[in-house]
Amino acid sequence: MAETFLELKDIHKSFGGVQALKGVDLTIRCGEIHCLAGENGSGKSTLIKVISGAHEPTKGEIYIEGERILHLNPIIAIEHGIQVIYQDFAIFPNLTVAENIAINRAVSTGAKLMNWKGARELALEAMEQIGAKMDPDVLVENLSVANRQMVAICRTIINDAKLLILDEPTAALTSKEVQKLYTILRRLRDKGIAVMIVNHKLDEVFEIAERLTILRNGEKISTGMIDEYDRNRFVKELTGRNISESFYEPKVSEDEIFRAENISRKGAFEDVSFSLKRGDVFGITGLLDSGRGQIGDALFGINPIQSGKIFLQGKQIEINSTEDAVRHKIAYVPEDRLTQG
Ligand SMILES: Nc1ncnc2c1ncn2[C@@H]1O[C@H](COP(=O)(O)OP(=O)(O)OP(=O)(O)O)[C@@H](O)[C@H]1O
Ligand SMILES: [Mg+2]
Repeated sequence: MAETFLELKDIHKSFGGVQALKGVDLTIRCGEIHCLAGENGSGKSTLIKVISGAHEPTKGEIYIEGERILHLNPIIAIEHGIQVIYQDFAIFPNLTVAENIAINRAVSTGAKLMNWKGARELALEAMEQIGAKMDPDVLVENLSVANRQMVAICRTIINDAKLLILDEPTAALTSKEVQKLYTILRRLRDKGIAVMIVNHKLDEVFEIAERLTILRNGEKISTGMIDEYDRNRFVKELTGRNISESFYEPKVSEDEIFRAENISRKGAFEDVSFSLKRGDVFGITGLLDSGRGQIGDALFGINPIQSGKIFLQGKQIEINSTEDAVRHKIAYVPEDRLTQG
């Protein structure tokens, strides 16, 4: 069996009256890809913050490479090779690819001046290691989300990552980009780096995970090799409910609740029409930046439509602000929960 890199025993964490983690045990082995799954609010981010030293647990023990660490903090965690990539990647849009990749190294070696030529070489070396191809001199603000993520991954390599944790890394990627990311993560795994991914999308978990840990309500429900799980077990442990994979048939009645006619907003979407009946579940899909999210923003009055018509129960209405939308009893869960929600 592979060596254990990290071991958590009976980790508790509470925030005032909220018990976010209730006695979680977790082991992460060197050179494995470990998925951490759980519904919203189950404690995934809190657990990551305990591992990265950002939160001190209320109770419990932490061992890194067999050594008990009493007061883990972010600096000690980094010294032990623990690197976390959060959803915003923590990169500097106004710096170049090379500068972003090399910046931590400069900070951690205590250099007062940045050696930019060295930075370029470091960056190229890191990209070579993961097989990424980017111009080191381009500003990060001009990169796609997927490439920004590559920059963040390169930076963890420069910092000698032994455990790389990624919080929902696939949320903003196209399926092709997800495949590219997985290739890179497998490459890191083959070098002996432990990779932990937070993800709860069933298909993605089954594709990439070698081991799986499921959290629910602050408790660890199970850990096991991925082949010990099937879809039913996964969904059942995640939700605590038995969900059969039967086909959901919405009860749709004939009366129309909402209709959009030829709605447009410049640079976002053009000439979109659809109609929703009572009980409808309606999906809008498209790649990132295709305008799919902007339709929601527009109908909720954040960036209103500029032409076209909107009808609510047959009556034409105007939505020019979020107040208008709320007044018409429209509710919105935005794509970017963290900042817009
Ligand atoms: N700093 C905090 N102060 C108070 N409560 C918190 C804090 N951080 C997290 N919590 C609470 O702890 C619980 C677990 O939250 P956590 O963010 O770890 O969940 P999560 O699994 O990452 O969820 P998500 O999928 O939404 O990211 C939630 O009830 C949350 O409200
Ligand atoms: Mg979270």
